[in-house]
Amino acid sequence: MVLRTIRPDCYSVAALDFERRLFDSLIPLPDGTSYNAYVIRGTEKTALIDTVDPSKELELVSDLVRLSLHSIDYVIINHAEQDHAGTLPMVLELFPSCIVVTNEKCKDLLLRHFDLDQDRFIIIKDRETLSLGNKTLEFIIAPNVHWPETMLTYLREDRILFSCDLFGTHYATSDLFVTDEKIITSAAKRYYAEIMMPFRFSIREHMKKLRALEIDIIAPSHGPVFNHPALILEAYEDWISDSVKNEVVIPYVSMHGSTRMMVDYLTRALIERGITVKPFDMTVTDTGNLAMSLVDAATVVIATPTVLYGPHPQIVYVTYLADLLHPKVKFASIIGSYGWGGRTADILKAMMTHIKPELLEPVLVQGLPCEASNRGLERLADDIARKHKEAGLIPS
Ligand SMILES: Cc1cc2nc3c(=O)[nH]c(=O)nc-3n(C[C@H](O)[C@H](O)[C@H](O)COP(=O)(O)O)c2cc1C
Ligand SMILES: [Fe+2]
Ligand SMILES: [Fe+2]
Repeated sequence: MVLRTIRPDCYSVAALDFERRLFDSLIPLPDGTSYNAYVIRGTEKTALIDTVDPSKELELVSDLVRLSLHSIDYVIINHAEQDHAGTLPMVLELFPSCIVVTNEKCKDLLLRHFDLDQDRFIIIKDRETLSLGNKTLEFIIAPNVHWPETMLTYLREDRILFSCDLFGTHYATSDLFVTDEKIITSAAKRYYAEIMMPFRFSIREHMKKLRALEIDIIAPSHGPVFNHPALILEAYEDWISDSVKNEVVIPYVSMHGSTRMMVDYLTRALIERGITVKPFDMTVTDTGNLAMSLVDAATVVIATPTVLYGPHPQIVYVTYLADLLHPKVKFASIIGSYGWGGRTADILKAMMTHIKPELLEPVLVQGLPCEASNRGLERLADDIARKHKEAGLIPS
């Protein structure tokens, strides 16, 4: 645990988790993560903003001790998920007069997830404030980033936005503030793709409110603090916009190489047409890389052999996940090889319920790719190029 000063009387008490490699039993963490809590000491009251993952609760306590805090008056809970609220029971035990400040919905979820005294809550509404003496906290209810109870906390005097999971990065670093902007933008894009992308439309609404605030610092609940908030705000404006790039993402699996040959053929055909292609062998790909590529791509082509009358199970998983992440892809198709028959294309089409792309005619071949399937792939490449041109992604 590292105790660091963001501004006078405003501290980060982040627990760094360099070793963690998986989040939610789902998301690969190539660079670890951090659980960031913050302490704000006003002239009259002291507040803790969020807590940390329960695996790191002793680190939070040691930081609070090193701050010589005799009391914490308020613990602000922006989000009820365990990685931020998990140490709340211990904080309430250590500081018997401490009161939880949160919104009604978050209180409900907290009481469902933790054994807490329901009388130790102050319930706030959107844009209400809480005075710490010389410092004022303003609460912005911001549902669905990424749970329904989420809110943001704005420290007016220091113009710091405590954004909880929004604008976070799963990136463990000893630096308090962003140092390498390129690395952090990439980590933030990965985080956005895996956690925030399904809530793109909610984020759009929240961004409208945030544009009206003067923000000098964004202090999220994972990863480094942004002291140049334009970096992350501009990146989000781009990611949540409707604009897509001249890119085709091809998640694929191939058992004996036929589907793989089709992927190679299509990749070449698309490159010849001036389109960026990102093929991913899903038996070895980190799903975070696939998710990141889906943030901007105009088109996805799912490539799979037929296995037991349907898509390869790995591709079923990937298609289900990609659809849940709700990227803004506009066009999709399916290619692959089969031995004797099945319902591969129909099953995959039926799985794209969120993204609802415009489907371009699939290309399926029996066994080894042949002249006819190559012609089919040329036709598909033409279809994609035409759609990208019509969408203004390729100059015509
Ligand atoms: C375990 C297994 C199950 C298969 N089940 C089917 C099937 O139900 N229907 C079908 O048409 N082909 C089936 N096949 C045949 C493959 O789809 C076919 O060999 C295809 O060309 C493999 O493509 P690949 O080289 O890209 O792996 C199966 C193959 C394997 C290994
Ligand atoms: Fe969360
Ligand atoms: Fe989180």
